[in-house]
Amino acid sequence: MGRKRILTGDRPTGRLHLGHYVGSLANRVRLQDEYECFFIIADLHTLTTKPGKEHIAEIAENSRQMVLDYLACGIDPSKSVIYLQSAVHEVCELNLIFEMLVTVPRLQRVPSLKDMARSANLAEMPFGLLGYPVLQAADILMPRSHLVPVGKDNESHVELTREIARRFNSLYGEVFPVPEVMLGEVPTLVGTDGDAKMSKSLGNAILLSDDRKTVEKKVMGMYTDPNRVRADIPGRVKGNPVFVYHDIFNPHRAEVEDLKARYLKGRVGDVEVKEKLAAALNAFLDPLRDRRQSYEARKGYVDEVIYDGTMIMRSEARQTLDLAKKAMGLSAIWNRISRKAEETRKKREIPRGGGEGA
Ligand code: TRP
Repeated sequence: MGRKRILTGDRPTGRLHLGHYVGSLANRVRLQDEYECFFIIADLHTLTTKPGKEHIAEIAENSRQMVLDYLACGIDPSKSVIYLQSAVHEVCELNLIFEMLVTVPRLQRVPSLKDMARSANLAEMPFGLLGYPVLQAADILMPRSHLVPVGKDNESHVELTREIARRFNSLYGEVFPVPEVMLGEVPTLVGTDGDAKMSKSLGNAILLSDDRKTVEKKVMGMYTDPNRVRADIPGRVKGNPVFVYHDIFNPHRAEVEDLKARYLKGRVGDVEVKEKLAAALNAFLDPLRDRRQSYEARKGYVDEVIYDGTMIMRSEARQTLDLAKKAMGLSAIWNRISRKAEETRKKREIPRGGGEGA
């Protein structure tokens, strides 16, 4: 019995941020030795809201940047498989099989899809976007994975994946594990503007690849307690994004507790709180920056990582699809036809009762 498996990943829409880190990346790095890990560059999923050629043209560079973020975080390609979804054709076939195991009303109840349609300014739901979580189920179940570390916004997709796995197994026999979701320590990270969710498109994100100066600037511009117009007014700590970040990223607990106590009493300015936060974030990001730089310096390395990972995933995918189609009795149809056809051809080639050209 080999190690259990993880599959997770991201759409290649650009560089990753702190929200990705606490939501999922930290778990991936932590579990890399314990699990056999597969990380997907989910480029087909970007087509659900952005099918235009101009967007497709950006996928290659976005994928490169995203993989550099992975490597910067400590994902080690000698341990983990990083692959390009659109280069593993089997996923489309498994997706089609799974489409038969889920109803339209069930998909219409998936909360994230409406949000995605809305933020993409789509008046009506594209068929493919409704199928987004089904395709994700095909991703997750392709290497027959057991665990899916994701952020909160993907939780409902993993729930659907579990239903599809159970349904498949009960119809055709046990092929797929029913995978567990694993949320990060901070399933949804607040944005620098106080918005509920850090997101690059909302412009409230601190990127893992931001340089020191950029981090300082973003932190100094952060939303804090809007009622605190002067430093001597007692402030609110709970839910205040600067303290949320301090709690997560500042390892100096005593410093954080001291800042909180003084903030509550109106004995510290926002500037000091923010300067200490910027310092903590930069200390956290420095090793990531170093790793990113050293990987970036190795010309062609990222492409090689994706290539090797995709080749491994292709062979996994073929095995799983074979198992699935065998279990369904689907491969038997073609197997029988091809066997019969070969037999018939052979009989015809052995002439009856003798001589050539009869
Ligand atoms: N839905 C994920 C996102 O929000 C991307 C994704 C596609 C994914 N397939 C997956 C995540 C499989 C985890 C597992 O970007």
